[in-house]
Amino acid sequence: MQKTSTDLILQKKAAGEKAVDFIESEMIVGLGTGSTVKFMLGKLAVKVKEGLNISAVSTSLETTVLAKSLGINIIDLREVEKIDLTIDGADEINHELNGIKGGGGALLIEKIVASSSDKNIWIVDSTKYVKSLGNFPLPVEVVKFGAEKTFSKLSSLGYSPKFRMKGEGYFVTDSKNYTIDLSLNDIRDPFVLDKELKLIPGIVDTGLFLNLCDMAIIGREKDCEIIKNDKKKAGHL
Ligand code: 5RP
Repeated sequence: MQKTSTDLILQKKAAGEKAVDFIESEMIVGLGTGSTVKFMLGKLAVKVKEGLNISAVSTSLETTVLAKSLGINIIDLREVEKIDLTIDGADEINHELNGIKGGGGALLIEKIVASSSDKNIWIVDSTKYVKSLGNFPLPVEVVKFGAEKTFSKLSSLGYSPKFRMKGEGYFVTDSKNYTIDLSLNDIRDPFVLDKELKLIPGIVDTGLFLNLCDMAIIGREKDCEIIKNDKKKAGHL
């Protein structure tokens, strides 16, 4: 049956709130970016008010502002050796728990935070759990210098690039870069594509998040489905 946007919002809420069950006192928690993460933050704030003692590293200005307003203690990544657990949204997840992220424009910092984390949980609605990645346009973050040349290279490789816009101008990330979205439809081998894209000068990183996710929490109609990444040996999760 066709899902309405209200169904999907409820699924995001369920997945976001469920993820908070995996946060333990004294943890350093990575906070992702996006609408699903906002639900997670709402529930986390309640737990913090009830006495859960955590510190958090944020992946965007947007998340920092919201988390601080909810009373969540935000610290800088340089203050910690590692993050215990990061909870983030995603735009697509395949059955191996590799994914596309960056729809919200925060892929670079999200990837640095995810790579600095012992465990990563992704929270999504059911439409984002897919067999094959690529229906969602793949974002790449590019430096401003020569961005049009980077764009031309992507175009000549057949990736149908589009600069992400904000109003009349280019969308600028928190790291002061541009984002280019690639229309790929079906990504046969995300590992090969990721390597190929990173060889193009000007591309800082791609929205392909590979071998990073330990567990996906997928909002479903009635409950959440939890899928663990056996290949990553998800430990206590
Ligand atoms: C931001 C992201 C988001 O996690 C992703 O776009 C999912 O967002 P939402 O929860 O709003 O659907 O990667 O860069």
